[in-house]
Amino acid sequence: MSAGAGEIRVLAVDAALGRPLRMAVLRPEEPADGQMYPLEEHPATLHFAVLGEGQEVLSVGSVMPEAHPRDPREHDWRVRGMATRPDLRGSGLGSRLLEEIVRVTRERHGARLWCNARAGARQFYEHAGFRIEGEEYEIAGIGPHFLMSRALD
Ligand SMILES: CC(C)(COP(=O)(O)OP(=O)(O)OC[C@H]1O[C@@H](n2cnc3c(N)ncnc32)[C@H](O)[C@@H]1OP(=O)(O)O)[C@@H](O)C(=O)NCCC(=O)NCCS
Repeated sequence: MSAGAGEIRVLAVDAALGRPLRMAVLRPEEPADGQMYPLEEHPATLHFAVLGEGQEVLSVGSVMPEAHPRDPREHDWRVRGMATRPDLRGSGLGSRLLEEIVRVTRERHGARLWCNARAGARQFYEHAGFRIEGEEYEIAGIGPHFLMSRALD
């Protein structure tokens, strides 16, 4: 990849295109062609990817209508499956992809985005305007997380 964040293109893709990277980064102990979560193939779920010059998948992320777990409201959307290829982390791909998620969620009248953020990704989400809600908690088999959210007004 050449480039500054300005040249990064984020595309809407099928669930399956992002699956190998999503699984390799987030569920490395599971089969690479497995489904990571129940709404992955739901028609309302939107998947995005940053592709390299050879069309290789560099970064992925998804968003879907799903109620906030502690304070459900209409027009809640959930971010899931954010993953950037390890050798390219910190080069702006994930931020650009998350900006696109914010843009399309607003277009669909989403009022709030939330996620179960891995503790290691906390600063990434804070950088994108998300804020922590409550205490750190453990998701079995995966590790420490924070519930994080941001309003989309
Ligand atoms: C989280 C992740 C998707 C971010 O993607 P990325 O392409 O590295 O993100 P960016 O390069 O756009 O980083 C944006 C900002 O967040 C920071 N950041 C990214 N990942 C970070 C991390 N793990 N810890 C601390 N800061 C991080 C970057 O330094 C950057 O800040 P800066 O612009 O002030 O330098 C990527 O690091 C990743 O795949 N992590 C492993 C999987 C994971 O935890 N996914 C999230 C599940 S909830």
